[in-house]
Amino acid sequence: MKKPVLLITAGPTREPIDDVRFLSNGASGRLGLGLARVAQAGGWEVHLALGPVKADIPSDVHHHPFETARDLDRICAGLWPRVDAMVATAAVCDYRPESRISGKMKKSEGDWNLTLIRNPDVLERRSREKRDASGDRILVGFALESGAGEEEARRKAVKKSLDLVLCNSPDNLGVAMGDYTWIEPGEASIDLPNISKELLAGKLLEFIGTHVTSRRSHSVSMGNDEPESQKAK
Ligand code: CTP
Repeated sequence: MKKPVLLITAGPTREPIDDVRFLSNGASGRLGLGLARVAQAGGWEVHLALGPVKADIPSDVHHHPFETARDLDRICAGLWPRVDAMVATAAVCDYRPESRISGKMKKSEGDWNLTLIRNPDVLERRSREKRDASGDRILVGFALESGAGEEEARRKAVKKSLDLVLCNSPDNLGVAMGDYTWIEPGEASIDLPNISKELLAGKLLEFIGTHVTSRRSHSVSMGNDEPESQKAK
C-alpha cells in the first residue's frame, strides 16, 4: 500500500509592495516543520509548502517554497489529487497590494494610500474539493484569534469543512510554546495550555493518522485502493 500523503502549509506569506518592501507577519513555520519531521519519521509522504523562513528541512520531506498567497494556492492545487490530509498552519496574508510597484517607491510630500485586495483562502478552496475517490480528505486548520476565539474558530471549522481546528492567539506567532484550544466539530473543546509545538505536532499526527486509516480502510473495502490518479509519479 502506498504511503499516506500529508500536505502541510507553514510560515508567513509575503505580499510585495515594490521591489524592496512587502506585507507579511511574524510566523516562524516552526509548528509545520515539527509536524513534517514527526510525520516523515512516522511513514508519511510529506509535502511541506513553506514560506520565506530559515529552516532545516529533512531531506525526505518534499519542500515547496512559496512567497505569496497565490504561489501557495497554486502549489496546493497542484498537489491536491494525491493528498490524503492537509494541515494548514501557514499565516496567510488575507490581502495583498493591488499591484506591485516596479523599482523602489520614492517618498513624496503627501501621504501614501495603499490599496489592498483579497487573496485566495487556500484552505477554503481545498475544502471545496474535500472528497476524492477514497472519501473525504482530512482537513486541519488553525484559527488565529485575538479575542474570545472559540465561537469564531467553530465558525471557521464549518466554513472550511475542517475535521479539527486549533484556536490560538497572535502571542503564539514565532514562539516555541503556546496556549491552544483543540476543537473537533460536535465535541467539547480541550484546552492545551503552554504546550510545545513539538508535542502539539505529535498529537496532531495521531489525530490525522487515525482518521486517514479509517478513510483508507473504507476505500479498500469499497475496492478503491490507490486510485490511478493518486499513484506516486
Ligand atoms: N488560511 C488559508 N488562506 C488564507 C487565510 C487562512 O489557507 N487566505 C488558513 C490558515 O492557514 C488557517 C485557517 O485558514 O489554517 C484560518 O486562518 P485565520 O487567519 O485564523 O482565519 P481567516 O479565515 O483568514 O479569517 P480572519 O482573518 O477573518 O480571522
